[in-house]
Amino acid sequence: MNPSQVKLVQESFAKVAPISEQAAVIFYDRLFEVAPAVKAMFPADMTEQRKKLMATLAVVVNGLSNLESILPAASALATRHVSYGAKPEHYPVVGGVLLWTLEKGLGAAWTPEVAAAWTAAYGTLSTFMISEAYGKKQAAE
Ligand code: HEM
Repeated sequence: MNPSQVKLVQESFAKVAPISEQAAVIFYDRLFEVAPAVKAMFPADMTEQRKKLMATLAVVVNGLSNLESILPAASALATRHVSYGAKPEHYPVVGGVLLWTLEKGLGAAWTPEVAAAWTAAYGTLSTFMISEAYGKKQAAE
């Protein structure tokens, strides 16, 4: 990711912040629609889960300008996800749903440049998390 992409991700995420609760509802509704099998992995009451997701995304997005600062937390998050039943192949599904949600939330502000910046950001994060949780080999596949 280059610095202007980091800025695009941070500025666009700031626009979603005021509607973060709704964005999280849209995100999980879409996730359970495209990947119904993962629904059973989540708690029945998603209220806290929605807050945790958006809070963690905020930390990650802020941390993009100083990637090293967030890697330990991202590594621990990845390891916890193994016990939640997350598999490497789930990461692109979640990424697709995240980008779809941002597109819905941002409307006209979802430009090709913003989309490319988010694709790069999610790619960086998910490649690192998969590598930490499942080993270097699978992340490269
Ligand atoms: C970069 C991508 C992801 C981020 C930022 C993220 C973030 C989070 C956060 C913050 C939590 C709250 C619990 C905790 O902090 O440990 C959580 C829980 C959870 N995540 Fe993720 N997640 C990601 C990818 C995934 C993927 C790919 C799956 C696979 C389906 C997944 C499934 C779950 C489940 C099932 C829980 C609930 C665990 C429970 O409360 O029993 N997540 N996630």
